[in-house]
Amino acid sequence: MRPLGEAWHRRARGLFVTQPIMPIESLIPAVRTELPGPKSRELMARGALDMQSGYRALVVDDAKSRGVFLVDADGNVLLDLFANFALGALGYNHESLLRVARSEAFVRAAVNPTSTPFVTTPSWFDVLDGLARFAPAGMGKIYCVDAGGEGVEAALKVAFIAHGERRRVSAGLPKNPLELEPAEQARIMDNAGSDAVVVSFTGSFHGRGLGPLSATHSKLMHKADLPAFPWPTCEFPVSRWPLERYADENAAAEARSLAQLERVLDGHVGKVAAILVEPIQSEGGDRHASGAFFRAVQQLAAAAGAALVLDEVQTGVGITGSYWAHEQLELPRPPELMTFGKKMQMGGFFVTDALAVTQFGRMYQTRNGDRGRGMLGLATLETIEKEGLLAHVRDTGAYFLAQLEGLAARHPHMTEPRGRGFLLAFDLPSVQARDEFLKRAMRRGVFASYTGVRSVRLRPHLITSQAEVDLAIAVFDAALAELG
Ligand SMILES: Cc1ncc(COP(=O)(O)O)c(C=O)c1O
Repeated sequence: MRPLGEAWHRRARGLFVTQPIMPIESLIPAVRTELPGPKSRELMARGALDMQSGYRALVVDDAKSRGVFLVDADGNVLLDLFANFALGALGYNHESLLRVARSEAFVRAAVNPTSTPFVTTPSWFDVLDGLARFAPAGMGKIYCVDAGGEGVEAALKVAFIAHGERRRVSAGLPKNPLELEPAEQARIMDNAGSDAVVVSFTGSFHGRGLGPLSATHSKLMHKADLPAFPWPTCEFPVSRWPLERYADENAAAEARSLAQLERVLDGHVGKVAAILVEPIQSEGGDRHASGAFFRAVQQLAAAAGAALVLDEVQTGVGITGSYWAHEQLELPRPPELMTFGKKMQMGGFFVTDALAVTQFGRMYQTRNGDRGRGMLGLATLETIEKEGLLAHVRDTGAYFLAQLEGLAARHPHMTEPRGRGFLLAFDLPSVQARDEFLKRAMRRGVFASYTGVRSVRLRPHLITSQAEVDLAIAVFDAALAELG
């Protein structure tokens, strides 16, 4: 290939980050206008084409935003504990990501998309070789799509395919659907779908596709008016915090949930393709269960011949203090499938070699493996490694939780501070109190968000420092005092 000339590089440099990025030290939270401010409102009045334009909260100035500080179109500076619903990992304009985005390989990938599983370029092999180092133990294959929910949908298909093939083989039928009798092939083409099921848990969220939605049980608005598969649901145990104080109560809740799961599996013998569960339920309200619970679920899944699918779209990529949250569950063997999304900059799943689907055409999507997004996801993981962010998240997360516990001791209407690493939350007495708290915190320069029914959700960027945690705590303290 002809090397790119100096003129191209000069032109390309002009395209990228045209303004000098403000040094991070010069940013401190400061809200000078109402939120959203006049300039933001003016901008929001545009773009009515967007079906969802009615519920935008902010317009970000992403040339000025830096590190953990979001600068909006009116110049207001907010400490960002929202991180775009946990999408952000390294803060705004992290040099390691800018470096990738300025690279020739990234620009080439952006303007020359490939249908990657069939035809690709050498840069995709670089991405795959890099990602292999971060694959969860025992999970030797990856499948990449765009969004988290799409990854869940695809992971469930893998579980169904493995289950269906196993069922056919044990009935003396061919494993390969192309070798089935013509009448059976015609039945399949006429929507005689599998009667296998996925078991999921109350309070779960797995994405917006029709498959994942049938395993989603957190909000009515996600599901109303849509068709759903008749799949069984079990009660998620929901640990109460602090864990030491509620150890007996939590163990009893887990035992009840496991007994119910056993009954459900007994009622669907030979029909359960997968048990799908988040290591920490995130959209459902930051609901935790113990490692012992997940180990028991894995055992029951194995006994039922079902795949264990862990949905790490929100818990993955460092936020709990390990690359993948399930690494802290002490599972005796890998789950069969683990989905990712958000901070990975793309969706998808890792899968064990045993379950990987290799037959051509069974899983193909045109855009499997966007090289540019893969480069950014890999750079995110490599930066976490290089900057020691896992240990940082564990230490600073423990500090953050201790400070939240201190606040709860002073403000009795704030309850159940909880979390692992930087995946943190607490409750307020009602939806109204929670929403009022979020507004007041934002006016004081801290942007947090909501989850579940009345929980405040904190998803700090992984680079958030102890000083920034102190700042958030001071703002929360004042906002809680105002709520009274
Ligand atoms: C656990 C979990 N699974 C799936 C999804 C869906 O991801 P996406 O919105 O990228 O499709 C989410 C999104 O919040 C999630 O938290």
